Amino acid sequence: MLLHVKDNVYYTGIRDWELRMFHGHELSTFNGSSYNSYLIKDDKTVLLDTVWAPHTESFLNTLEAEVGIANIDMVIVNHNEPDHGGSIVALLEKNPNIEVVCSQKGVEIIKKHFQNPDWNFHPVKTGDTINIGKSDLTFVEMTMIHWPDSMMTFMSGSNILFSNDAFGQHFCGPSIFADKVDACLVWAEAFKYFAGILSPFTALIKRKVAEVVAMNLPLEMIAPSHGVIWREDVLKIVEKYAEWSDDYDEGCVTVGYDTMYQATKKMAEAIAQGIEEEGVPVKLFNTAASDQSDLMTEFFRSKGIVLGSSTVNNGTLRSLAGVVDEIRGHKLKGKIGFTFGSYGWSGEAPKHLQEGLTEAGISIVQDPVMAKYTPSAEELLACKEAGKAFAVKILNG
Ligand code: FEO
Repeated sequence: MLLHVKDNVYYTGIRDWELRMFHGHELSTFNGSSYNSYLIKDDKTVLLDTVWAPHTESFLNTLEAEVGIANIDMVIVNHNEPDHGGSIVALLEKNPNIEVVCSQKGVEIIKKHFQNPDWNFHPVKTGDTINIGKSDLTFVEMTMIHWPDSMMTFMSGSNILFSNDAFGQHFCGPSIFADKVDACLVWAEAFKYFAGILSPFTALIKRKVAEVVAMNLPLEMIAPSHGVIWREDVLKIVEKYAEWSDDYDEGCVTVGYDTMYQATKKMAEAIAQGIEEEGVPVKLFNTAASDQSDLMTEFFRSKGIVLGSSTVNNGTLRSLAGVVDEIRGHKLKGKIGFTFGSYGWSGEAPKHLQEGLTEAGISIVQDPVMAKYTPSAEELLACKEAGKAFAVKILNG
């Protein structure tokens, strides 16, 4: 079924209510997701992006029933990651005359993904325009936000920005419009999406958002490729992207720890108590028992990152190794941290965590806190004092 978006624009995507993990098993999607595809019925019939391969049959059946695949003139491939390009081969098999519009990098990526197909490619670059009848489509390259081929498409007349991954959310709701669903959920998912997928590219996003704002496009809708469409207070999500890409933090602390016999957990709680007593918001997560995407979102919003682990086999517990690697990959900026942990004899874990955080670009502002076997009252007091000292550094910026 096509859903009406605006004027002669329709939604023909797949709303995936049951999805709980994305990018394989990397990202949690507790509110499902959607693979948004849009259809413009102008003098030319234009499809914007396709859907993930498991949904190809349903996607093509809708197109065939509603518009007739033989009548599609053009497909805009804003981005050929398989969640959006997964149905394009089947589409082109049904109608090989469809013009494939994408960035030059998109041509390369499509050819590599699909064994060099002999399609009617139309590569475009920033500022290029294609007239489709009453409307023009203008393209803005989004190189490495978040793939080399990524771009956005602006439709004049209806004034819709088809923004692909940018401004999206892994969210599936009872409407395709943001103003018709639970705003708290949508904004939480938009933030999680930015933290989990786009945060490594904040420097590029900052420049690109400024570039898009300077284009002064008369935006009436932003239609991303995941989640709901923004049509009220449209620029709010653009302003949020500017804010989130500018060394973002909320002045809070996240303590991530893993523990074998509760000693390191007791240290984490004492550190958190010290932080809280100084008036700084703090959250604690057992890294082995927490959702990794949500954990990464908390690190992204935090000014302070504190990691602790028991020492085992001269190193850290395994969940911390993954956490440090993920923090490194997300290239977080402007954050401070320190480490802690209990041990029996050698005690290397806090040092390893400190080295990992340093490599990840987190500024270490105080020495590790350690406790042998079960922390004594004096050692827990030292943890609390370390938390207090850290909180003061947070408050002093
Ligand atoms: Fe939603 Fe980068 O694909």
